[in-house]
Amino acid sequence: MVLYKVHSQEHRVRYFARPCSSAFLFQIVCIIFTILPPLFTSYFTSGFYYKELSYSEQPSVSFNGKYEIFIDSSSTSLFSSSDAFLNGKLISSYRSSTLRTSIPRDIDGDGLIDQFTITLNIILLESIASTTTNLWLQFQYALSRYPLLNMEALGVILLKAPSSLKDNSTVTIYGQLRLQQRQPLSSNSDYSSIQGSIINYGTYSTVPSFDDILNNYTSRNYYTTFDQQYVQWSSIPSTQQQLTIKIIVNNDLQSIRYIPNYWKEFRWAWIQYITALIPFFYIINKVKEFVFSNGLVRTVVHKSS
Ligand SMILES: *[C@@H]1O[C@H](CO)[C@@H](O)[C@H](O)[C@H]1NC(C)=O
Ligand SMILES: *[C@@H]1O[C@H](CO)[C@@H](O)[C@H](O)[C@H]1NC(C)=O
Repeated sequence: MVLYKVHSQEHRVRYFARPCSSAFLFQIVCIIFTILPPLFTSYFTSGFYYKELSYSEQPSVSFNGKYEIFIDSSSTSLFSSSDAFLNGKLISSYRSSTLRTSIPRDIDGDGLIDQFTITLNIILLESIASTTTNLWLQFQYALSRYPLLNMEALGVILLKAPSSLKDNSTVTIYGQLRLQQRQPLSSNSDYSSIQGSIINYGTYSTVPSFDDILNNYTSRNYYTTFDQQYVQWSSIPSTQQQLTIKIIVNNDLQSIRYIPNYWKEFRWAWIQYITALIPFFYIINKVKEFVFSNGLVRTVVHKSS
């Protein structure tokens, strides 16, 4: 029968030396060269910590019923909104509008809303052909996986009406609300209350500057934009001038930038350190074995049998 060597154990040999002797200093240098290089290699290759990571989440988006419509052309400037105060202040350009929302749809059956429709109907006294429409919609936008975020979010839609429109026009917009981040979200912070409402209807005594509101909103660390995917116009002749705006809001997975929590960072740093430590540990041990067994430094040798 052939025998294979499975393990060998050498005689236990112990080397002793006085403090401050060359052997003692050599041992200290070996320890330093085992511990420090992995620290430097890990640090200088990628850094120990993740500066930021990203993950995907489908946010919870709902329409909170607030809207403003601005219709402008060289000769007209029309306004309509869901707020009675603003409508009253801008009475000279006010046109009445009605809002209808559909039952939200959960297309893939995962319990999150994937699509909903907002329909706005404005009764007009003039043609809207060749006008520009700015539509502001206010949503509630929430994330709930790592970082908690719940904020009022604005979607601004810009529409240019074709010149060939007839009296009864319909425009259908498909789009999606997207989170914009100046900073990554921190996974152990709660962003439920920091952002406040976009338009503080209660605090204005005059009509607020909408440019300022938009400027303030897009200066936030976290805000949203509305990505227009498709826009389609149609119109038919009628006795009544009106515009129907149908907004189909799609909602799917979005990539969110975030800073991981302490334990995730620690684990990553630990893995990097240990993987770099193993080869250094092995090499330095071989060097020590060579130096001590060949008597390159002076030691007192004890052999146990
Ligand atoms: C915009 O932000 C500034 C500073 O926070 C504030 O004073 C101002 O009232 C805001 N404007 C509007 C229209 O909300
Ligand atoms: C306007 O058009 C829509 C759809 O095309 C139709 O349902 C509605 O009855 C029309 N309204 C008028 C006043 O013509």
